[in-house]
Amino acid sequence: MTRTGRWTTFSLYGAILIAASVLLIGELWAAQGKGNPESGKKIYLESCQSCHGPTGKGDSDMAAYLTPPPANLAAKKTQAKTDAELRKMILEGRPGTAMSSYEGTFEEAQLADLLAYIRSLKP
Ligand code: HEC
Repeated sequence: MTRTGRWTTFSLYGAILIAASVLLIGELWAAQGKGNPESGKKIYLESCQSCHGPTGKGDSDMAAYLTPPPANLAAKKTQAKTDAELRKMILEGRPGTAMSSYEGTFEEAQLADLLAYIRSLKP
């Protein structure tokens, strides 16, 4: 192989390596934005299941004592809402109901995980 040939091969591998890294970082970035439903479930079980129930369907023991009862998060009504609406709901709560504000409780990534978990609930 000539000197130039070797350099061409070298830069070719270099370019492939850089392209692969860019793709990988992009994937990780996107995955972060989407949130991880498994981590979201953990947060949900700690903070939300006492009202919304173990499966998110509003089927907690507490539900019978709350008016209005906790929302069934798997229901169409909730799933039809946009991520922005659900996020606002969690951060601001709903006045006049037991749903209190979680402002300052979660990091951005935790909020994304929670949303991903809510989205994974099936009616
Ligand atoms: C103390 C009980 C309680 C806890 C804890 C609680 N919620 Fe709620 N949640 C409610 C009630 C009550 C409503 C209002 C239902 C309604 O308006 O009919 C509600 C409503 C909601 C809604 C709106 C659903 C819709 O379609 O309008 C979302 C989303 C939600 N809760 C998510 C969460 C998440 C996520 C957590 C945990 C971080 C949480 N809630 C913790 C009681 C609770």
